[in-house]
Amino acid sequence: MCGIVGYVGGKNAQDFLISGLKRLEYRGYDSAGIITMDEEGKDTLIKAKGKISELEERLAKNKRDDKAGIGHTRWATHGEPSEANAHPHQAGDIFLVHNGIIENYKELKAQLKNAEFKSETDSEVLAKLIESFYHDGRYPLTNAVVQALKLVKGTYGIAVISRKNPEEIVVARLGSPLVIGIGHDETLVASDASALVGHTKRAIYLNDGEVATITRNSVEIKTLNAEPVSAKVEEIETNLSAIQKNGYEHFLLKEIMEQPESLIETLRGRVNLHEGTVKLGGPGLSETELRKIKHLIIVGCGTAYNAGVLAGYYIEQFTPEITIETVIASEYRYRQAYIPEDSVALIVSQSGETADTLACLREIKKKGIKTIGIVNTIGSTIAREVDGGTYVHVGPEISVASTKAFTSQVIAMVMFGLTIAQAKGVKKTVLQPYVKEIAKLPEEVRNVLELVHEDVKKIANKYKDYDHAIYLGRDTAYPTAIEGALKLKEISYVDANAYAFGELKHGPLALIDDRFFEIALIPKGELYEKAVSNVQEVLARNGKVIAVTNDDKFDLSVADVIRIQTSLEILTPLLMNLVSQLFAYYMTVAKGNNVDQPRNLAKSVTVE
Ligand code: M6R
Repeated sequence: MCGIVGYVGGKNAQDFLISGLKRLEYRGYDSAGIITMDEEGKDTLIKAKGKISELEERLAKNKRDDKAGIGHTRWATHGEPSEANAHPHQAGDIFLVHNGIIENYKELKAQLKNAEFKSETDSEVLAKLIESFYHDGRYPLTNAVVQALKLVKGTYGIAVISRKNPEEIVVARLGSPLVIGIGHDETLVASDASALVGHTKRAIYLNDGEVATITRNSVEIKTLNAEPVSAKVEEIETNLSAIQKNGYEHFLLKEIMEQPESLIETLRGRVNLHEGTVKLGGPGLSETELRKIKHLIIVGCGTAYNAGVLAGYYIEQFTPEITIETVIASEYRYRQAYIPEDSVALIVSQSGETADTLACLREIKKKGIKTIGIVNTIGSTIAREVDGGTYVHVGPEISVASTKAFTSQVIAMVMFGLTIAQAKGVKKTVLQPYVKEIAKLPEEVRNVLELVHEDVKKIANKYKDYDHAIYLGRDTAYPTAIEGALKLKEISYVDANAYAFGELKHGPLALIDDRFFEIALIPKGELYEKAVSNVQEVLARNGKVIAVTNDDKFDLSVADVIRIQTSLEILTPLLMNLVSQLFAYYMTVAKGNNVDQPRNLAKSVTVE
């Protein structure tokens, strides 16, 4: 949510800032701005409402060879998307970019009696507050930033630069990520390491409560209480091709299609097919600790939450001795829920920065419960704060709609469940079918993506004028239906909801009319016949059903059928979800919406 970049070094700052902002655009895309300065502190401030391309157009008329600057791409929280509300915000000689929310900005604003404000943002208040301690440069910028931050309630990742000393940038974080890239004769700043890829592989991830003073050849980090911090330089593993479209028209399609490979990365070194076992190193729980687990809490938001619900359905199939509760992070953080002893919490997040999920993690830790991260982004805040974890290793997910992360999150959690079951001595004959299917999944995903692609595209085009959809499923196909509906509503703006088939008669059946179509997920298995009967009930009310099934014999006269060929049984719903992902993609393309950056959303939700 919002992106920050900064540069000080020997090269053209505008070039890095704009390329960095383009990489971060998926985090917020309603307005953007950059400020650069020459050695004398002469500044060039350019802002634009809308996408980075708008900013780029303005920049073309203001080309400068400045060697330092900061930039920002915004996802509005306080004040509408506009040029005035876009960052950087100016206060006298200083300029600031900010991610996060200053909760007490009204109080602070009231205290800044002589200040004039040009925007409606909380961020400008912080800029003016810093300026009030800066005394026209008579006080070091870092100290002014620290004084101001001590008064702030809320979250921030900030970068600040002053005309008085354009060779220096001050950055700080609390609850909003910041990475410092160490280059040759240059230092770079970004709120997400992907902006640094191709410039340097060496990075320092700032921790909460730390402030860094950066020049082209130095990084000095202290806490807000002025204690020096010795920085750990880590390697950025992402390569350029992972953050490019590689010939695909949209990141979303690329990310859907690369699931066979991303799953291979999730499984690498973790599945022993010969023995029929799985082994996860990251959680760091001993056999005794695993055996003691009686209750599993799975925490996430959006797609990560849906992945948790589906994984929970699976895990309870083979670990009868534990209870599983999947919870929405934004709710759970404020609940007074009793957490029984011998619980473990799985904290699920692609970005590893989601504010509500992070807050939950901290609440749960306070209660003395072990937390295990199911995270994608290496070095992210959640990954660093959990007691142990399993990275899903799907590589950068750039499209706002989460796809490959979902599939791998489910599998990583099921593997964690299998690890518990193994330790508890659940019979191999019970666990082996799961292990076998997990091992086969990448290949099965590849086949399904190839085989259904054209059909799904055609059918999505056929339904492109609809604005209402219902997803239906039973058992493990139900959480899959929920995820399918989320994907569709998020990018195609179709009002899509999911129901458990069994719930239809309890209300939703009243909705069925011409305005709706229904996507029915009908995997073979114990509840197949029941699901088929439910589809008949919809057909009897003239519903327009798109059936997704792996049963060759399925012969109801529905509007459309998408058939899946697979040797899998247990994990078939995950293959059906590929259909939902492609369907949402093609529906969105057909409707002409922005696929990778849907309106009103941002990739990483770092505000509550
Ligand atoms: O980064 P996280 O996995 O914590 O993100 C959680 C949700 O914000 C995210 O899954 C969101 O729902 C997606 N846009 C859905 O596609």
